[in-house]
Amino acid sequence: MSEPEASGKGAVRTALTELLGIRYPVVQAAMGYVSGPRLAAAVSDAGGLGLIASATMSLAELEKAIEDTAGRTPRPFGVNLRADASDAAERARLIASRRVPVASFAQAPKPELIAALKDAGVVTIASVGARRHAEKAAGWGIDAVIATGAEGGGHVGAVPTSLLVPQVAAAVDIPVIAAGGFFDGRGLVAALAWGAAGIAMGTRFLLTSDSPVADAVKQVYLDAGLDGTVVTRRVDGVPHRVLRTTMVDQLERGGRGGGGAMWLSGPRRAGVLVRSARNAAAFRGVSGMGWREMLRQGRDMRRDSGLSWAQVLMAANTPVLLRAAMVDGRTDLGLMSSGQVAGLIGDLPSCAELIEAIMTEAGATLDRLEGVRRREARPVRAKDVR
Ligand SMILES: Cc1cc2nc3c(=O)[nH]c(=O)nc-3n(C[C@H](O)[C@H](O)[C@H](O)COP(=O)(O)O)c2cc1C
Repeated sequence: MSEPEASGKGAVRTALTELLGIRYPVVQAAMGYVSGPRLAAAVSDAGGLGLIASATMSLAELEKAIEDTAGRTPRPFGVNLRADASDAAERARLIASRRVPVASFAQAPKPELIAALKDAGVVTIASVGARRHAEKAAGWGIDAVIATGAEGGGHVGAVPTSLLVPQVAAAVDIPVIAAGGFFDGRGLVAALAWGAAGIAMGTRFLLTSDSPVADAVKQVYLDAGLDGTVVTRRVDGVPHRVLRTTMVDQLERGGRGGGGAMWLSGPRRAGVLVRSARNAAAFRGVSGMGWREMLRQGRDMRRDSGLSWAQVLMAANTPVLLRAAMVDGRTDLGLMSSGQVAGLIGDLPSCAELIEAIMTEAGATLDRLEGVRRREARPVRAKDVR
């Protein structure tokens, strides 16, 4: 991949900027229905790495999105895909044939898929939530990992970013991208101090003027406090960090092990379940996931979460509920994945303004820390300690 351009104000050079040929070590994390061509291109154009979220796109939609993004920016961008999609190999071939520089995966793909992409000159990245996943992916030849801590938005693990990132960075020799809770330049410096080579942000990029999400939805995020999110298993059986809304509270109150429609009764519940089945069928069409794969995932969910088949069926609604908020702007009906960091965000800058501010603050933070080191050279007096 080409060398990064001359560093801009406050820029830093890391193993990640060198691997990807980007200017700043800032990645926009994949967000279904949010990170399409407009957002991904805005981030890449500003010197970071934008990722198109393709799990919620058909193959034809993905092809169009790649074309659209490449038309908006000459800089490197990537595509995020599900390693378990039945057409993952076909999607990987499309990425390689369109010369997309980066492919990122929600979970690590099999070694053969990594090798095929790397042979085609595509940089591969896998998301991990635990050290052993990072070690496995590194062993399979992945080029970099995104380690996402428990404060992150969407599906999350249990280990906070401040513990996961140092652990993963010490365990693997490839660049580690820290994610979960990042929003500013101090966080970038903290991630570098923990041994990461850059940061990835989801919620912060959702809350930019370049994000396609409706203003009313962005306002709900802006209004949230630090206690405004909740990790629920009631939606799809696995821990999912979302904004705490009336609907989510109702799901959470729905009884032990209850998911989706379980808090309803009688005909309303039957109606919801029928709609869930239709939604599952419709999503199968765009996700490239076969019935066999969906059934396998359903069986895993039943085993891991103790859900009934009715609950599993309801869980298939997740993409539809996310779409209702992110695409249709339905804050009342929809599900809004969000990191805890929403509680610290109060503005909607452009991606270029955001990245510039992060890099400037990272530079000032490094200067401040250098000052702390110089102070250590002489005896520390009480008035020196602030
Ligand atoms: C609205 C939203 C949608 C998301 N959708 C996806 C997705 O489709 N696939 C995925 O792998 N991760 C998804 N995530 C998780 C992000 O990729 C990332 O891990 C997370 O946002 C990082 O934490 P942060 O929000 O604190 O920056 C989503 C997150 C948000 C906030």
